[in-house]
Amino acid sequence: PVLSQDELKKLAADKAVDSVKSGMILGLGTGSTAAFVVDKLGLLLSTGQLSNIIGIPTSKRTQEQAASLNIPLSTLDLHPHIDLAIDGADEVDPNLDLVKGRGGALLREKMVEAASSSFIVVADDSKLVSGLGGSGLAMPVEIVQFCWKYNLVRLQGLFKELGCEAKLRVDASEKPYVTDNGNYIVDLYFQNPIKDGFGAGKEISALEGVVEHGLFLGMATSVIIAGKTGVEIMTK
Ligand code: A5P
Repeated sequence: PVLSQDELKKLAADKAVDSVKSGMILGLGTGSTAAFVVDKLGLLLSTGQLSNIIGIPTSKRTQEQAASLNIPLSTLDLHPHIDLAIDGADEVDPNLDLVKGRGGALLREKMVEAASSSFIVVADDSKLVSGLGGSGLAMPVEIVQFCWKYNLVRLQGLFKELGCEAKLRVDASEKPYVTDNGNYIVDLYFQNPIKDGFGAGKEISALEGVVEHGLFLGMATSVIIAGKTGVEIMTK
């Protein structure tokens, strides 16, 4: 039988949860794939197959989901060293570099995942790209609300030669989307993939008023990809 995209996401999520051991401090990701991870953790805690887990959520949404499943939660302030983070991604390249943040949670995700000894990415095979920015979908940048147009124009100007179009993210009622941190998001759309991710990330971060960008470079320890032929684990 052909598996649905949700079934593929769940396959990857379940495989990742195999790496979770009792007593771990866990970074809990955001998005539809990460939600399957949180569900599974809740189940294993409720049956006693796992115990003494502390979750560090990467968004208010994940915090609410985990709390509803009685997963004990804490913060980076209290637990600055995380054993393992598991999260989805929007794009995965062959080097295990990622684009994240289409769900808007990039800032907390990056803080939590950077503080984790291991970071497992879970995704279905639709997320694989040969070069970041190459999916034709958004590469998000979180910016302060103050003079957002000024920064939108500057971001677009950085990547002119890649055919970049910058758009302010809006919600269903066409109002600016506001992140958990009270900021806006500019989505960058590229006609051509980014060649130098580290260089691009540095240039974006150097703009005053930019809070964080969705390039997650050199952070993933492994990527679990579920596709029609089964689950594949990518490592460096
Ligand atoms: C959230 O901000 C994102 O970084 C998600 O991790 C990413 O969008 C993947 O989400 P899905 O698993 O829903 O595709």
